Amino acid sequence: MSVRAIVLAAGKGTRMNSDRSKVVFPVAGRPIISWVVAAALEAGVDEVTVVVGHGAEDVEAALVEGVMTVVQGQQLGTAHAATTALEAMGDVSDDTVIVLPGDSPLITAATIRTLLETHANGDARCTLLTAVMPDPTGYGRVVRVGDRVRAIVEERDADEAQREIDEVAVSTYVFDGAGLVDTLVDINNDNEQGEYYLTDAVAAMASEGGVAAIAGADAQEVLGVNTHQQLAAADAAVRRRINREWMEAGVWMQDPDTVYIDASVGLAAGVRLYPGTHLEGDTHVGPDSEIGPNTVVRDSAIGSGCRVWFSVLRGVEIADGVEVGPYASLRPGTVMADSTKAGTFVELKATVLGKGSKVPHLSYIGDAAIGEDSNIGAGSITCNYDGFNKHRTVIGDRVFIGSDTMLVAPVEIGDDAYTGAGSVITKDVAAGSLAVERSSQKELPGYADRRARLAESEGE
Ligand code: UD1
Ligand code: CA
Repeated sequence: MSVRAIVLAAGKGTRMNSDRSKVVFPVAGRPIISWVVAAALEAGVDEVTVVVGHGAEDVEAALVEGVMTVVQGQQLGTAHAATTALEAMGDVSDDTVIVLPGDSPLITAATIRTLLETHANGDARCTLLTAVMPDPTGYGRVVRVGDRVRAIVEERDADEAQREIDEVAVSTYVFDGAGLVDTLVDINNDNEQGEYYLTDAVAAMASEGGVAAIAGADAQEVLGVNTHQQLAAADAAVRRRINREWMEAGVWMQDPDTVYIDASVGLAAGVRLYPGTHLEGDTHVGPDSEIGPNTVVRDSAIGSGCRVWFSVLRGVEIADGVEVGPYASLRPGTVMADSTKAGTFVELKATVLGKGSKVPHLSYIGDAAIGEDSNIGAGSITCNYDGFNKHRTVIGDRVFIGSDTMLVAPVEIGDDAYTGAGSVITKDVAAGSLAVERSSQKELPGYADRRARLAESEGE
């Protein structure tokens, strides 16, 4: 006997007003559907089959390897979706089948496990998860007689009394495989929407006394995403969960409500996060580093003891004791060694900064390799693009680039060399040299007086 999951994700999600399938919208940086699949796998299901339809390619791309998909060409209802999946899954008669909605990213592995255990330990043919919703509008209502579940009635098919019921079904059920297959055959589409309802399987099994329910799932946990408001609510809920876990692990946050950490991010204890910090994608931050306020870090590695504020980092690697910002933009391919600095209004792209080197103010440095302990003066720029191709700038160790130096690439500056402020450097500079490229300064003494006299004569 194995436990086999069917995840329903063929629907369009009309209320999202989007061409994309709603289950690929991100929650904490991951598609909604991948949260559901991850929870199922973590709970120990043996196999996952996702029913896809609208935006099938995007949904398939969001799935981890080993998850199967089956295409439901026309969305004729949740029972039809389950039937489509079962046709592809082969014989399930000795297995347990759990059905999950693809649009509820907050479901936890713990809840799925509890549901599976309850089903395994009882003798019901179906065990369903229900929740009490403060506002049950739109959900299928759980109709009970005494404690026994009798049916699930969809909002549109419910009478006034049934609409008052606040215990709802959340498209999460466990079935005996054989029982599900038998029951699905008899389901019709005789309802207000003309759809085949999987909820009708519950009514069918209940009439034989075979339905158990776990009531009282956390309303938040079973929140389905049908609208952008619900997407934002789900994202906020996951974010709170993630932030809580990081704080328990020793991360300091001044205001967790304004810290946005993707599920894929790794943080060391002792990290300090200020408001407006966004950590995205494959990002890791080492111990005692401070990030923010107002900083976006995507797909980047940050070492220990760094300070990064009011800045944007994408695809960069920075070692230990590095200072970034305020107002720096670090672009892909940038590697900063220990104790380096990219300061105020500095942009680095595909640039390697050797240990102790600094670019403190108002610079663009791109496609460059800079050695150790070099200093790039304020306002200096690598002119790396000649309109056709990008060229490299290579700067040695202990180099002093004077303020406002234009380094016209390809160009190489040797170790211990200097450039004079305001120079346009077009030729290589040998180690230890000073290169100055600017006209010598002229001085016209008494100019102010001459000017004043000129103005007087003009006025006459
Ligand atoms: C469904 C349930 C309802 C429950 C609610 C929230 C039915 C009849 N109703 O209603 O009891 O309260 O979910 O969990 O099941 N889907 C397919 N193929 C289809 C139709 C739907 O794959 O042909 C998928 C959707 O992509 C979605 C899930 O099934 O992920 C639920 O479908 P949806 O249309 O959102 O159902 P609700 O009307 O919300
Ligand atoms: Ca000049």
